Amino acid sequence: MKILLLATAYNSLTQRTHLELAYRGDQVSIELGLNEEVMIEAVDLYQPDLIIAPMLKQVIPETIWRRQVCIIIHPGIKGDRGSSALDWAMVNNVESWGVTALQANEEMDAGDIWASVNFPMEPVSKSCLYRSQLTQAAIQAILQTVERFESGTFTPEPLDYNKPDVQGCLRPYMKQRFRAIDWSYDSTSTIVQKIRSADSQPGLLDRIYGKRYYLYGAHPEDTLKGTPGEIIAQRHGAICRATVDGAVWISHLKQKTPNRLSLKLPAALVLANELETVPESDVPLEVSPHRQTYKEIGYEEKNQVGYLHFDFYNGAMSTDQCRRLRDAFIYARSRKTKVIVLMGGQDFWSNGIHLNLIEAAEDPADESWRNINAMNDLIHTILTTDTHLVIAALQGNAAAGGVMLALAADQVYARRGIVLNPHYKRMGLYGSEYWTYSLPKRVGSQKAQELTDICLPMGTQVAAEIGLIDQAFADQPTSFRQQIQFVAEEIAHHPDYGKQLAFKHEQRQRDERFKPLDAYRSEELAQMRRNFYEPDQYYHQQRYNFVYKITASETPRHLAIHRQVPHSEITCSLIFCQ
Ligand code: COA
Repeated sequence: MKILLLATAYNSLTQRTHLELAYRGDQVSIELGLNEEVMIEAVDLYQPDLIIAPMLKQVIPETIWRRQVCIIIHPGIKGDRGSSALDWAMVNNVESWGVTALQANEEMDAGDIWASVNFPMEPVSKSCLYRSQLTQAAIQAILQTVERFESGTFTPEPLDYNKPDVQGCLRPYMKQRFRAIDWSYDSTSTIVQKIRSADSQPGLLDRIYGKRYYLYGAHPEDTLKGTPGEIIAQRHGAICRATVDGAVWISHLKQKTPNRLSLKLPAALVLANELETVPESDVPLEVSPHRQTYKEIGYEEKNQVGYLHFDFYNGAMSTDQCRRLRDAFIYARSRKTKVIVLMGGQDFWSNGIHLNLIEAAEDPADESWRNINAMNDLIHTILTTDTHLVIAALQGNAAAGGVMLALAADQVYARRGIVLNPHYKRMGLYGSEYWTYSLPKRVGSQKAQELTDICLPMGTQVAAEIGLIDQAFADQPTSFRQQIQFVAEEIAHHPDYGKQLAFKHEQRQRDERFKPLDAYRSEELAQMRRNFYEPDQYYHQQRYNFVYKITASETPRHLAIHRQVPHSEITCSLIFCQ
């Protein structure tokens, strides 16, 4: 079928929808619905069989939905309506929630229902929920809808609030006052829940030292205490504020400014001048899993397997975070285990160097240079590990240098359905992270060139087929973690473990003789130095647009195939490639 996706942004759900439909064999084109005329033009040019809006904030013009079936993916259960669906579900602490595929009509979110899929809620941020459970449910609903539409026999169900399974209702836009924190009254769990319901957008508006900030990245703290609202500790860029029954860590802040151009940054950096007397509070790498506190990096061991967790906000890895992770990896390597599993975080595995911190640095070029070198040092340490077999376990999406970080491991496993973006060009970068060594080694030189040139996302089915990853399994983060444990223990206790380790060592030595890792690094860094320091490069502009969310004025041609003349075959070949 010819399917047109109308979306506000090419975000992870739109990317995943694109990948799933393309994998099914549909011909997919995308218009990032900028305004009515653009959407109407896209439909006229493409003449789709079906229109799907996986994430559209604009309204689909009547002239389109009157003549064409348009499916809106609403992040709510049957009957739920309004633009703050997930926010309300989180603030109301519901146990399960859903996604509904509705046919667009004159009333917002009240169209006939083509499919609806429910999922259990988890105590994570709104965007984390969106990228994991909600995305899985949305894809199920989209695929059901497409099959039902294709069958030509399915009649969608009109919205009827008398039906017992229609439990939702119309809810207003969630204004800041609905979730404002009362520090003298709200408990830790209420505060965490309120912040998470607004994370990553729009953020929860609050006052600190008389100024207004959006708060992000909330974690409960069970030991530190103080006067409610007071900042009582700081750790790795996060601040800890006391509550009536404990305390809460807040990892990021964005100042509310009249011109709205403000960066989301680690909280302690934003408040630097105010925190001189606030003590640093450390946390051990192997803190008990029952402790509630803030930790970006954690380590645990079981049955000769070491698990290294690194849950960096938005998957962005600063110079300091790369260095701390390298130290933690070296610690893991010093243990008498056989396998190290790099777990990343549930939300993201890694998205490479930290573009916001680079943007905020006094000299962004110098900070880019420091950051990429710290990343390379980490990856070099993983690549040259000869005491352990290393597994990368991708629970969440990965992009750019974050994908290449995973490829430094001996085995790469991913949760089924995550989205990988193994390319740098859209950020104006050549890329480093030893990708010129690791990527061709996995997929061959030609495919490595294609992947880095074409700049398209990749699903886990295709990634496994071309050898970018070894295998994808489990749809949900919890089941993925259980299965990874099983896989890691099997490798650790396999009778051939010793042979595999010896083979790894020999192969590394062979590769080193053929071309030393240092040569790959210096060639890549020569290109990166140009990207960072030479005036004709567009990395600084691309990064600025990215961190301040300045969107392109038109849909990139490689996505809007209806605007390509002639239709480019190469664009589609990668997504479809099998
Ligand atoms: N540095 C800082 N922030 C980053 C980041 C990075 N490398 N990668 C992603 N983010 C942030 C985004 O700004 C966004 O912030 P928000 O919470 O304020 O909205 C958040 O992570 C989620 O990203 P978003 O783009 O909304 O999510 P997505 O799932 O739709 O897309 C990516 C994910 C990875 C495709 C996209 O974020 C991206 O292209 N990131 C840049 C990757 C990169 O070029 N890294 C540097 C080279 S190594």
